[in-house]
Parts: sequence; structure tokens; C-alpha cells
Amino acid sequence: MIRQSLKFRNTITCGFVVFLLILLFLIITRSNVDDSRVNKSHIRLADDFEDIEYRRFDIKPKTDVYISVGKMEKQVQSANIDDTTKRELKEAKSRIEELEKKIAILEGRVPQKYPDVKFLGYKERKRILVTGGAGFVGSHLVDILMMQGHEVIVVDNFFTGRKRNVEHWFGHRNFEMIHHDIVNPLYVEADEIYHLASPASPPHYMQNPVKTIKTNTLGTINMLGLARRVGARILIASTSEVYGDPMVHPQPESYWGHVNPIGPRACYDEGKRVAETLAYSYAKQEKVDVRVARIFNTYGPRMHASDGRVVSNFIMQAIQNLTITVYGNGRQTRSFCYVSDLVDGLLALMASSYTLPVNIGNPVEHTIEEFAMIIKNLVPGCRSTVATGAAVEDDPQRRRPDIAVAEANLHWTPKVTLQEGLQRTIDYFKEELSRTAFFNNQTYMDMKVKSHH
Ligand SMILES: NC(=O)c1ccc[n+]([C@@H]2O[C@H](COP(=O)([O-])OP(=O)(O)OC[C@H]3O[C@@H](n4cnc5c(N)ncnc54)[C@H](O)[C@@H]3O)[C@@H](O)[C@H]2O)c1
Repeated sequence: MIRQSLKFRNTITCGFVVFLLILLFLIITRSNVDDSRVNKSHIRLADDFEDIEYRRFDIKPKTDVYISVGKMEKQVQSANIDDTTKRELKEAKSRIEELEKKIAILEGRVPQKYPDVKFLGYKERKRILVTGGAGFVGSHLVDILMMQGHEVIVVDNFFTGRKRNVEHWFGHRNFEMIHHDIVNPLYVEADEIYHLASPASPPHYMQNPVKTIKTNTLGTINMLGLARRVGARILIASTSEVYGDPMVHPQPESYWGHVNPIGPRACYDEGKRVAETLAYSYAKQEKVDVRVARIFNTYGPRMHASDGRVVSNFIMQAIQNLTITVYGNGRQTRSFCYVSDLVDGLLALMASSYTLPVNIGNPVEHTIEEFAMIIKNLVPGCRSTVATGAAVEDDPQRRRPDIAVAEANLHWTPKVTLQEGLQRTIDYFKEELSRTAFFNNQTYMDMKVKSHH
């Protein structure tokens, strides 16, 4: 009897549990059906909405937009909006886009705001010619000269320079840009000339070796001739490459160098050596007031992303998580100077009475392998590996400036630390990369419209 009543209780409990399970299953299935119905309609409408709203602006709708799309769905259902109304909405949207374009054009005509420029009286204000002023170093120099209040004339053939480097000065009354190749004579008036025009990175100067030699010889003769005619002081941008693959370390200005005159780098190295010879010949024979800066490796924002040099190569590889390629065994050394330090050095040299060549560079030396690791560690989350490749022909093994002359005569030393300078350069390259991705396949008009959003 007791056993029978226990059996009966078990049967009832089991039945009740099965009933509960069925009920639960039904509830879950129903809520899923509802969800998918809602989600599908959201996706459909979100797509429509995206098509109308975001096609041109390349941004994803935010969460609150989905909420409003949900509301819209209800409105659309209740108002029973048909295909004609949708088409009208689209037409209105494209009309708005047309109007936005027109606004962008009109805004482009409104005078822009320039960086702060000091006012100089006519006695202090100089007319300064910067050849190669649209390039990496030249554009930073132009910024400082403009902000000091001088009149600046940039001459550039845009071989490696870009208008974008100096476009923030376009239209300023103290600024002038001349599209000109310095291999041809130039007639302008100037009180000072910074002669920087020359490709500077191996892939650029090796692209057309004859042109590189012409720029550094004929171009330099033209600029020295101009300096003689107008009585201007001229600063020649020479290079540490005049030391070639040096046998003396670190390199003082008194070292005559170790250059292969027929190697792949000769067009640049020998071109710059002739430029120095020309400068001192004009100084001796024609009494031209010359300054010669032997510039060591320099880096910073506005350097070319694809110039094939160590800093740009490593940074571009690190921020894209690509393999960081070290040419040779990686034990060759370099010392890198941040661009603002270099510009300070050039200004100090131009202002000084010291007329012999001066090394301008940062004496902190690292192996290329160390550089690769420093850059990798400065890029958060970088997953690049470091690999070695074939050595480059005539690649100097050691490079470090002896800056005693600059310290003693110009009271100049570099101030920006490698970490600080690299961080600013990494930020610049990241911005350049995202800018390229963002504006890819856009017309200039699209870019203008987008940049207003
Ligand atoms: N950046 C460095 O690490 C470094 C090192 C040593 C020496 N330098 C010297 O400093 C100067 C500037 O170098 P950069 O790094 O700014 O190079 P860059 O290539 O960015 O700038 C050189 C500029 O000169 C212009 N140019 C070239 N040939 C010309 C011609 N025939 N006529 C008119 N313009 C011409 C280019 O278009 C470019 O705007 C160069 O003379 C270079 O030799 C630079």
C-alpha cells in the first residue's frame, strides 16, 4: 500500500516536471521568434538608413541611431510610407549633399587662419629664399622663419617635396612659392639663402643619379651665383655622406672622408662634396658669404613614408604589424637627430660668423638592431618580428657626429630625446596612414566635404 502511494506520487511529480519543461520551451521559442523578427526589420531598415545617411561619410551608425531606426520603423509602419516617399527622401538627401559641396567651396574661399606670425619692422624683416622648402627639413625651417616674421620665398620642383608641407602658409602676405628647378638660373631678390634642394634618401637620389649630380653641382652654382649677385649670405645643406664609410669615429669636420667615387651612392656623396668645394671657391674668389652644414641623419614628422630610410621603414612596418627588416647583420650604427633640433642648428649657423663646415646631428648612437627594438616597443600592441636581410652596397658601418665645433661656435646641442622624437614621428605616421585609408578613392570634393564633418 505504502509502495503504491509512493509510485503514484513519483508519477505525478514526473508529469509536473515534464509539463514545466514544455511550458519553458514554448516561452523560449516564442521570444526568439519575436527577437529575430525585430532584428531582421532593424537590419533592413538600418541598411536603408545607412544607404541614405552614411554612404558618403564612411562612418558606422551609432547605437542611438539603431534606437531611432526602431522608432522610424514604427512610424514608417503607422504612416504607411511607400516606395515613392522613400525615393523622395533619397532625392532630398542627394540635394543636401550637393548643397554641402557648395558650402565647402564657399568655405574654401573664406581667408584661413595662419599660425601666429611675429610682426617685424622693415629693418629687421629679411627676405629669405629656401630652396627645397617644400621638402621634409625645408618645410620645418620655413615654419620657423615665417613665425619669426620674415618674408619667405620657397623654390621647389616637387621632386620629393609636397605642397601639403607648406600649404598652411598659402596666401599669407609674407609667403611666396615658386615652382622651379634650380638646375635652371633663378632671379629673385633675397638677403639670405638656405640651399636645401636635393633629394636626400638613397632610393630618391639613386632614381636619377645624373639629375642628382646636376642638382648638387649646377643647382649649387646657380644659387651661389644668385647669392653673389644680390649679396646674400648662403647656407649650403651638405651631409655626413661626405665622410663616406668613415675610417675615423666619431667623425669630426677635419676628417676628409672615405668615399667610393663610382659606387651607387657617389652621385649624392660626390655631388655634395663638389657643392662644398664650390661654396668655398665662391667664398674665396667672389667673396660670397657662405655657411656649410654637414647634416647627419634626421627624422621627424613630414619625412617620406616610403623613402627607404631606417626610421620611416621601421615605423611603417611596426604600425602595420609587418616584419621589421634590418639590412645586413644589424650591428651597423646610426645616430638620429630630431628635425626641430636640426632646424635650430641651421638657424644658429646662419646667424653665426663661423664659416667652416659644421656637423649638425645627434651624437647618441645605436645599432640598427637596437633601433628596431626601440621602435617596436614604442608602438603599443606591435606584433612585428625583427628579421635580417641582405646588406646594402656601400652602407656605412658607423655614423656618429662629433659636434664639438657646433657646441663651441654655435652654442648648439640637440635637445629632443630619441624616445620623444620617435613618439612624435610614430604619431605622425599613424595619422598619415589613417588619412590615406580614409581618403582613398575619394575625389578632392569628397575630401573637403568630409573634412567638415
Ligand atoms: N634628412 C636628412 O636626414 C638629411 C641628411 C643629410 C643631409 N640632408 C640634406 O638636407 C636637404 C633637405 O633634405 P630633406 O630630408 O628635407 O629631403 P627632401 O627630399 O624631403 O627635400 C628636398 C627638397 O628639394 C626639392 N628638390 C630636389 N631637387 C630639386 C631641384 N632640382 N630643384 C628644386 N627643388 C628640388 C625636393 O622636391 C624637395 O622638396 C638636402 O639637401 C639633403 O641632402 C638631409
